[in-house]
Amino acid sequence: MAEIIDGKALAAKFKWELAGQIQELSGRFNSRPGLATVLVGGNPGSIVYIRNKITACREAGIEAFDHHLPATTAEAELFSLIDSLGKNPKVHGILVQLPLPDHLSASKILDILPQAKDIDGFTKANWGKLFHAKTPAELTDCFIPCTPLGVLKMLESAGINPEGKLACVVGRSNIVGKPMAHLLMLHNATVTLCHSKTPNIADVIRQADIVIAAIGKPRFVKESMVKEGACVIDVGVNRLADGKLAGDCDFEGVKNKAACISPVPGGVGPMNIAMLLANTFKAWQKMEA
Ligand SMILES: NC(=O)c1ccc[n+]([C@@H]2O[C@H](COP(=O)([O-])OP(=O)(O)OC[C@H]3O[C@@H](n4cnc5c(N)ncnc54)[C@H](OP(=O)(O)O)[C@@H]3O)[C@@H](O)[C@H]2O)c1
Repeated sequence: MAEIIDGKALAAKFKWELAGQIQELSGRFNSRPGLATVLVGGNPGSIVYIRNKITACREAGIEAFDHHLPATTAEAELFSLIDSLGKNPKVHGILVQLPLPDHLSASKILDILPQAKDIDGFTKANWGKLFHAKTPAELTDCFIPCTPLGVLKMLESAGINPEGKLACVVGRSNIVGKPMAHLLMLHNATVTLCHSKTPNIADVIRQADIVIAAIGKPRFVKESMVKEGACVIDVGVNRLADGKLAGDCDFEGVKNKAACISPVPGGVGPMNIAMLLANTFKAWQKMEA
């Protein structure tokens, strides 16, 4: 039976350690880290995500500046807010919650976000630094996107060193799959990146020592697709017809075969928020030190 990687407990540990470091440094810097959240419209999922992020910030000693704009907000108005947050010395990180309403372009917003405050790690300037790095040590100058960073910490907590392992990342999104594959490669794993056009995907996944599932298809990865003793991290969050949440892996089946597995909920989700705090802390240190 697999060891369960408890993302909720790990995230809580990270948060309290960070709170201690923030308390220690805030006297020296004579400031506190600040995170500005920008939510446009009333997407119910986004409202919950933002609420959880703000609560976690406050628990860690990070000042949260909450901006909730109506769904009809014009592009120029949003640009002007981002511009003023970019200039505000109390704001060290800016998070624009995606998805945005259809009339607003996420890509255009990311183009004007200052890289020094891009704690989500989504801007092209940040990507240039992220993908240019040849070793993990070269990542100090950029922000590692929160979800893949959280996954790396979960692997570490389970005692899994990617070096020399075969890793399979399922899903090639900019937010998760693509940076995840790159980061595993930087940690010397041999990586396969699968997507919806990958033929014989079950055979590809079955070869992997490390499986990262991020496709948004409930219980897609079955017990039969996983190698005995693999480590499986489930990034997926899917709302089922009965209102319950399910990951991209069939947890009940896969846990019989894997050496370790993360649950949904209580796995990658809380770690994602913890890494957002960690990136805000990093931005604050860089600006204030
Ligand atoms: N826990 C967290 O904090 C967290 C954070 C981010 C995302 N998520 C969750 O993670 C999941 C993925 O999110 P995302 O933003 O990366 O999704 P996304 O942008 O929709 O990308 C999904 C990826 O999965 C691939 N895919 C879809 N169906 C597939 C199939 N049947 N076989 C193989 N590949 C398939 C797609 O392939 P193509 O490129 O070929 O279309 C695409 O690359 C979602 O459930 C999301 O809610 C969770």
